[in-house]
Amino acid sequence: MFEIRNLKYQEVLEIPELSIKPGVTVIAGASGSGKTTLLRLLNKSISPTEGSITYNGTELKEIPSVKLRREVLLLSQQPAIFNGDLRHNLEIGFKFQNKALPSEKAMLEMLQQVHLNKTLETEVRLLSGGEKQRLVIARVFLLAPAVFLLDEPSSALDDVTEESVIRLVVEKARRDGQSIIMVTHSKAVAAQFADEIIELEDGKIKDRGARS
Ligand SMILES: Nc1ncnc2c1ncn2[C@@H]1O[C@H](COP(=O)(O)OP(=O)(O)O)[C@@H](O)[C@H]1O
Ligand SMILES: [Mg+2]
Repeated sequence: MFEIRNLKYQEVLEIPELSIKPGVTVIAGASGSGKTTLLRLLNKSISPTEGSITYNGTELKEIPSVKLRREVLLLSQQPAIFNGDLRHNLEIGFKFQNKALPSEKAMLEMLQQVHLNKTLETEVRLLSGGEKQRLVIARVFLLAPAVFLLDEPSSALDDVTEESVIRLVVEKARRDGQSIIMVTHSKAVAAQFADEIIELEDGKIKDRGARS
């Protein structure tokens, strides 16, 4: 899926060789070790200072950003919630991507799948933190990318909620043949869900391996 060669990003990241295969990959490492930087390189939010990254055999620099981001979707640490109702928050990703809007039925089904039993007219300011998180997940599920890049998807949640939110994402992705590259601090999450764990330390790969 992704192949990295001789990558450098400023003084922040240095990865001579890394292959990220389809499935569920967890990126671990202390704060400041370069995890977010790596995810941002993978969807071309930033570009390498040196070296190359390919996605399914094509250099990222040859793939137009909009096209890449339809397939490789980054859910950042602090995902945006927009004023207005649920419908607006579900449709907005499609507007950003110049895609046809999802049907009412598709949106309602997706809300059900993330266990958010609200109408599309519900105002987001009435949602709890956990409900907002699930709304954002419903948004990215609807966009149906081939690869989800999740940056500490549930840093705002407690451990129990975190596990259930991630379980939801992983199970759906596996069912639909999508891949996940996920930054998490949770060893429990990594142990349960990762096919492969990549550990960063000071911008370098310290360790990688299959789930033990
Ligand atoms: N655009 C940038 N330019 C220079 N340094 C950066 C940039 N973004 C992040 N950094 C630095 O790179 C290091 C790694 O940051 P980051 O990837 O956000 O780490 P993590 O997500 O693992 O906490 C940090 O020391 C951070 O201050
Ligand atoms: Mg980070």
